[in-house]
Amino acid sequence: MADPFYLTTAINYPNGRPHIGHAYEAIAADVIARFQRMQGRAVRFQTGTDEHGLKMARKAEEQGLVPRALADEMSSYFRAMDEALDISFDRFIRTVEPEHHRASQALWTAMNAAGDLYLDRYEGWYSVRDEAYYDEGELVEGEGGAKLSPQGTPVEWTVEESWFFRLSKYQDRLIELLKTPGFLEPESRRNEMLAFVSGGLRDLSVSRTSFDWGVPVPDSDGHVMYVWVDALTNYLTGLGYPDDTEEWRKFWPASLHLVGKDIVRFHTVYWPAFLMSAGLPLPRQVFGHGFILNRGQKESKSLGNVTDPMALVERFGVDNLRYFLMREVAFGQDGSYSPEAIVNRCNAELANSFGNLVQRSLSMIAKNMDGTIERFETSEADDALLAQVANACRGELPRTFEALAFSQGIEAWMRAVYTCNQYVDEQAPWALRKTDPERMKAVLLTLFVAIRDLALAIRPVVPGKADAVLDMIGIASADRNYAALADTDWFVRLADAGHRIGPPAPVFPRLELPEAEDA
Ligand code: ME8
Ligand code: MG
Repeated sequence: MADPFYLTTAINYPNGRPHIGHAYEAIAADVIARFQRMQGRAVRFQTGTDEHGLKMARKAEEQGLVPRALADEMSSYFRAMDEALDISFDRFIRTVEPEHHRASQALWTAMNAAGDLYLDRYEGWYSVRDEAYYDEGELVEGEGGAKLSPQGTPVEWTVEESWFFRLSKYQDRLIELLKTPGFLEPESRRNEMLAFVSGGLRDLSVSRTSFDWGVPVPDSDGHVMYVWVDALTNYLTGLGYPDDTEEWRKFWPASLHLVGKDIVRFHTVYWPAFLMSAGLPLPRQVFGHGFILNRGQKESKSLGNVTDPMALVERFGVDNLRYFLMREVAFGQDGSYSPEAIVNRCNAELANSFGNLVQRSLSMIAKNMDGTIERFETSEADDALLAQVANACRGELPRTFEALAFSQGIEAWMRAVYTCNQYVDEQAPWALRKTDPERMKAVLLTLFVAIRDLALAIRPVVPGKADAVLDMIGIASADRNYAALADTDWFVRLADAGHRIGPPAPVFPRLELPEAEDA
């Protein structure tokens, strides 16, 4: 079995309900997890919620709740979202869990033992919305001369006693790490981080004393950890750290931390420095994906365009939403969605192309061949089609998915689907029924083979629909992986076992165009 694969998403702030950005990241991570499992790798996939910090404490206060009550309620919506989106996580972590406090304190103790923590006074800018410290020089000017963080969020002047982490000590090693090919992708983000680190690093304030909603600092009354210290530690907690568990030995270091572009700094500067300090191996890759916009605009309460991902699932179906997001947006870049775009894309490619291919091919097999799968002689045209399909499904799609270039892989898959539909039109099996029934069988069975390959290849993206197709054609669960695409005997085995299929049920109904919305 190939290397174990440990994949994480960012853990989400449950200070409000999930939004499309949270859904996007969960879906992308799930596609990766399913893809790697189908490649035969042992996958561990972790996601969860990031529940401490000032942002949570203030939100709870605003609502007249204790932070834990807000966290409990909101975290459950994130979990419900993951379930609605078919996210196949192995562990949903909440940072309020006692074992997470224990892991965070263990990491703290290791950094302290390395001589990297000292007490001092923090005086500077803090953004509660980003839960981030900023240097004066990083701030930008907002309306009326207000100081804003580089992310456009308000900052407040903060003065308090605090523990500091010797980040400056790690500058050279961080530069080396950032230059390591593949560590931080996409490339554009790497240059930005290199510039940040090369500009000089100041030691980082890593505890707070003005509120208490966090993980207590060991042996330091009145201090709770800066929320990012405990948040990042979640990746260790989930494997049992600091205990020497089987999961820990098998899965650390992480293969991939998937995060959005706004939190790349935390994952490629602070996090590796903490790990270096504690003497732990570093994650192999951090990927900073882009943002999803609503008709080109950031969703916000003031614009009134915040969409509940659950409503999108209800309206379009989970696999249509998954397909759209992975197909429409070049992974790593920003992208936009709208109901019209989802409907157009899914109707054109899933309903009218792949769905139509499946529907008409399987119907003809059921009707004209009594659903019987048997050995057949291929013609040159059949061989050429199957070679093209195999090339997309076994070659291009896995190769591009491995590189997280999902939209490219899906495009290659889609081209193979188009070719199949063209082949159906050219071969006209309905006409062969009278003139050359043997030839008709060969054409339909060629399509049967192609449909299996296409359904297997796209399965990480649309697991429910792909499985519905694979169920209809009777492919066993154990054979729903990429190794099966390389198995040249599967068809003969089915044929010789007297395999039969029934008439297909519709798997890819057309979506309705929404009524014009505000426009
Ligand atoms: O940053 N499009 O949590 P968060 C795509 N708790 N992705 C988006 C997005 C959008 N419009 N908006 C946000 C945090 N994201 C921390 C993480 S990890 C140890 C701690 C992404 O709820 C964002 O980039 O603000 C991040 O990866 C994730 O959603 C959670 O954001
Ligand atoms: Mg955020």
